[in-house]
Amino acid sequence: MASLGVNIDHIANVRQARRALEPDPVTYALLAELGGADGITVHLREDRRHIQDRDVAMLRATLRSRLNLEMAATAEMEAIALQIQPDLVTLVPEKRQEVTTEGGLDVAGQLEPLTGLVGRLQDAGIPVSLFVDAERGQLEACQRSGARWVELHTGAYAEASAQAQPLELARLTEGTFMARSLGLRVNAGHGLTYQNVEPVAAIEGMEELNIGHTIVARALAVGLETAVRQMKALVQNPRRDPLFGSTAP
Ligand code: PXP
Repeated sequence: MASLGVNIDHIANVRQARRALEPDPVTYALLAELGGADGITVHLREDRRHIQDRDVAMLRATLRSRLNLEMAATAEMEAIALQIQPDLVTLVPEKRQEVTTEGGLDVAGQLEPLTGLVGRLQDAGIPVSLFVDAERGQLEACQRSGARWVELHTGAYAEASAQAQPLELARLTEGTFMARSLGLRVNAGHGLTYQNVEPVAAIEGMEELNIGHTIVARALAVGLETAVRQMKALVQNPRRDPLFGSTAP
């Protein structure tokens, strides 16, 4: 059964739109936990456009669930991770101009520096996950880097047409199997919604889904605790066959 990591970057987006004190993502993280979040994910971006350093430190001090720190593979972020000691670091590609993370990390293309960073973080007791597309070459590179986890990029599945979605789901299923055969543990995320999450949650060996946008969007109508509870129900008890359609409320 997959667990649910709730990405709360969008709460910080609203706060930063006014450079104000509210809404405070730390408060909302605790509400997400009340709704059943198994972990909280934040992306501390180089440009600090949403999550701030203070948020990460306060989350570390207050969360009862797990803290997953998404970050770029830079010296600045490495120093912050070593200081904060999150439960998991997820390394993601980062471009200043992008609206959100685009594409997976090219682990195969930068294996040497990534292997060094993964080793330093894991030697300090912080397991590392690499956000990659579900491709054999990338997954093999992830194994070579020494990382214990991968997060499979579900963006192509989420954006696919109804006809193409079964193929994208098959890629994720195969990628999960391949990663596990290589000894890697598997999370997934990006673009998942109440409507498309169930087939991904049902993949054998999938451990955690990281979901943000759709939960925060629904929270505007029903509150964050309820929005998380509704997503958790789908992630925990998904229908296996996408052709039956979603059970999303
Ligand atoms: N996983 C990763 C690596 C991400 O960068 C993001 C978006 O920040 C997510 C999951 C969550 O994506 P979404 O907000 O579309 O649910």
